[in-house]
Amino acid sequence: MVSAMLRVGMLVACLFSALAWGASIENDGAPLTRALEWLLSPISGATDHDPSSGTYLHGRLMVLAWGFLVPVGILLSRFYKVTPGQDWPRVLNNPFWFNSHRAFAYGAGVLMLAAVVVIVLEDPRPPWRSFHAGIGWCVVIAGWLQLLSSHLRGAMGGPTQPGTPVPLRNWQWSQVPRAADGSGPRIDWPGDHYNMLRTRVVFEVLHKVCGYGLLAVSALTLVTGLLAADALNWMWVALLLWWLVCAAVFIVLQHQGQAIDCYQAIWGIDEALPGNRMKPIGWWGIRRYSSANVAAAPYPRRARGG
Ligand code: HEM
Ligand code: HEM
Repeated sequence: MVSAMLRVGMLVACLFSALAWGASIENDGAPLTRALEWLLSPISGATDHDPSSGTYLHGRLMVLAWGFLVPVGILLSRFYKVTPGQDWPRVLNNPFWFNSHRAFAYGAGVLMLAAVVVIVLEDPRPPWRSFHAGIGWCVVIAGWLQLLSSHLRGAMGGPTQPGTPVPLRNWQWSQVPRAADGSGPRIDWPGDHYNMLRTRVVFEVLHKVCGYGLLAVSALTLVTGLLAADALNWMWVALLLWWLVCAAVFIVLQHQGQAIDCYQAIWGIDEALPGNRMKPIGWWGIRRYSSANVAAAPYPRRARGG
């Protein structure tokens, strides 16, 4: 993680230098002053910049919701199903990723609601008045549907009561009667997730496809919002740099093998488990382990050569 942050820092430094250099070519005078002047001027090149307080608040809340909370929430969900220091797969079902993903997503939902109320009160014309207003309404509605549909993911199930919607903690496994021969987890425990029933499969496919789709459309919405408000140049530059940081973190964590399959993070690597007998759902590089290769998993952190 530290090396990831260092790499990201170098990237940001390079981009800022390139920016300052570019600004100095176009204008005579001190490069840094010119770069700063450019950063502090509106996108259109106009000399004055005076958006209403409602637009300011709308923009800030949306940037916080869709620019920060949603991308970080997705990174947490993809890469922190097992956390550094967790003795996985002996210790299962770490709730960190789920709680943080859910909190960030609902936080974004609340901020988005406030942001939309602010702008509707200020500018109550129909949504088809501009590209940004139209696409903005699509993101707001689809975002709330994504939040609501997350409640249709079915029951966890597994080793305890049938149909329990509450994630089970690892300690509960020890209280569960084993199969007749005493080995391995039983495959007849109930639950949509434990058995990867259709409800859960449909949820995972739709939630992931719509989640990444929304992320892409929200990026376009943020950019068109900045254009509609004729925002200052530093705002889109900062947003772009932040997205590059997120992309870099994604690539580094992916490369480190931290995208551990949700099913295995929660239920373990036993090949007899129902979900381990089907392909993991998700795109590009979800990691699965078996007893043969679990030593290669990134967690628990193992001493070099050990
Ligand atoms: C704006 C709202 C949300 C967005 C955009 C979103 C997006 C995503 C994305 C893109 C993933 C897949 C990450 C990956 O593994 O590559 C994911 C996973 C997941 N999300 Fe959300 N999410 C949202 C809200 C929620 C909420 C409110 C819940 C539950 C209360 C939730 C539950 C889950 C679960 C259980 C997974 C793991 C699925 C799996 O890996 O098998 N999400 N989310
Ligand atoms: C994903 C992020 C965003 C979403 C979902 C969004 C959503 C919306 C919606 C739904 C409207 C129309 C409200 C109405 O019908 O009255 C709107 C208008 C507006 N938004 Fe955003 N917005 C986002 C980001 C931004 C940003 C970053 C700014 C920059 C300050 C911004 C500036 C504006 C402005 C100036 C208007 C009114 C002008 C127009 O009609 O185009 N928005 N936005």
